[in-house]
Amino acid sequence: MKIFLAPMEGLTDYYMRDMLTRIGGYDACVSEFIRVTDRLLPARTFLQYCPELCVGGRTAAGTPVHVQLLGSDPSVLADNAGLVASLGALHIDLNFGCPAKTVNRHRGGAVLLDEPETLYAIVRAVRSAVPAAIPVTAKMRLGVRDHSRMIENARAFEAAGASALVVHARTKEDGYRPPAHWEAIARICEAVALPVMANGEIWTVEDARRCQAVSGCSDLMLGRGAVTQPVLARRIRGEAVDFFWDDLRHWQADFLALLKLAGELGQPKRFGAPWTERGAIGRYKQWLAMLTRDWPEAVTLFHQVKKLQRFTDVEAVLSAAGPADVAA
Ligand SMILES: Cc1cc2nc3c(=O)[nH]c(=O)nc-3n(C[C@H](O)[C@H](O)[C@H](O)COP(=O)(O)O)c2cc1C
Repeated sequence: MKIFLAPMEGLTDYYMRDMLTRIGGYDACVSEFIRVTDRLLPARTFLQYCPELCVGGRTAAGTPVHVQLLGSDPSVLADNAGLVASLGALHIDLNFGCPAKTVNRHRGGAVLLDEPETLYAIVRAVRSAVPAAIPVTAKMRLGVRDHSRMIENARAFEAAGASALVVHARTKEDGYRPPAHWEAIARICEAVALPVMANGEIWTVEDARRCQAVSGCSDLMLGRGAVTQPVLARRIRGEAVDFFWDDLRHWQADFLALLKLAGELGQPKRFGAPWTERGAIGRYKQWLAMLTRDWPEAVTLFHQVKKLQRFTDVEAVLSAAGPADVAA
């Protein structure tokens, strides 16, 4: 069984990847998508999205980071893939699942699932531009509005030379609404010989087991569940790991410290968004808001920090927010 941490734009950035892979359980993670339009991006863009390229393409914990590209022009994507490979990318993934309107308007992401010939041309061009030792994979949804082309699309990826396929078991129109249609992944698995990884709505160990049984895939990609339950991957692997609010409080302090250090070192938080104290704290609050799904203590804490904008204030509340305070 392989378990990957999903690419999530604005969420699984360098700092989140660093933390979650240190907590452990992942075979690999995937960068946020890097959008390619009509030209070769400068090397610094790839390094901003994926600073791990400067240290062998792995997180501090040693977990490989796959670089994800999104675009629609096969030859421009191929040129960019060639560049990112020369910068040390260990693996290139192509995004055919993004439902965002701005991206889709420019023929990127999930809308291409109506154009199997374009999917083929993109994967073929990228595959040819990248050394054979570097896997090229595709991440797809089940379709734009329905599942009618999912098999054709999966076969196009296979024929074009993709090494594996990640299937997010929803259509573009489904957005992120449950359920995820894991049974459709089983049909894709029957139609192609490629390794297929299942993705969508895995929040608990029980979800993971059901997804594996229904989809027939042992390999899983975890998205939002990985962020709300940081030991989910390890528990899916069968580790009896204790992880309580106090542990999570420790990791929140660690994450805040990383975000703060980024400012002190003058690092951009992520492409296009220069570091500011307020912005960095916003990243932490975004994670805390997601933690409220599974952690009642996070609800209390979120109310306490939501108006704060300085590290010192947030740190003070976090260090006081032990189990006793929450119970009180
Ligand atoms: C905030 C957010 C950002 C996302 N960004 C990306 C992305 O950059 N590339 C990508 O392929 N998928 C992206 N996704 C989709 C996830 O990788 C994943 O397929 C989806 O969330 C379903 O998995 P889950 O139900 O476990 O969260 C994003 C999802 C979310 C919620």
